[in-house]
Amino acid sequence: MIIAVDGPAASGKGTIARALARHFGLPHLDTGLLYRATALNLLEMGGDPDSEFAAARAAHIEQIDADDPELRSEAVGGVASRISAYPLVRAALLERQTRFAAQPGGAVLDGRDIGTVIAPQAEAKLFVTARPEVRASRRLAELRRAGRNVHLAEVLADIRARDARDTGRGAAPLRQAEDAILLDTSDMDVEQAIAAAIAAVEARLASG
Ligand code: DC
Repeated sequence: MIIAVDGPAASGKGTIARALARHFGLPHLDTGLLYRATALNLLEMGGDPDSEFAAARAAHIEQIDADDPELRSEAVGGVASRISAYPLVRAALLERQTRFAAQPGGAVLDGRDIGTVIAPQAEAKLFVTARPEVRASRRLAELRRAGRNVHLAEVLADIRARDARDTGRGAAPLRQAEDAILLDTSDMDVEQAIAAAIAAVEARLASG
């Protein structure tokens, strides 16, 4: 069984995907980390984010340390969003994702194009979203907890810019798959969102 979880930045899709993986006993891949690791690698190599070739070279990553806080930084996220528009970068990261999805026992993947490109055959697809203002205030709380002194207007502008890039690019843009269940978490807390996601997946599996 493959569960595909897509959605915009700070929608809660990562939290939901992790909870689904735990609930259904499946391995989980946060595919945003692949783009973030590519961005970090590129920055560390002193490569130019405006060069598709340099970015594609940076996509050849052996190991990703998911606990590296650098990967989660806004700066790396911004570069990740830019270089993820390059078809050569997406191609370089494709096989790792399709291989993960094809594990015999199944898997949960979250990202932007899981239900549309990486695993269109997924048994259950969720498109997790929330109003930009809600996503911005969640991201703000996260950043402040990490000791960063940022303002809501700044975070909201960043989220809107990221949304525009992720949905407006030609290669595998962020969009809801036709057979995906829409989950708007704007007016839900974490527990409610997780419960709604589990219920939606169970309903889909029961009907399928
Ligand atoms: O989910 P995230 O914020 O960690 O992702 C960082 C960037 O990577 C995001 O702005 C777009 C890109 N991305 C993508 O293009 N496709 C995916 N499947 C996952 C992430």
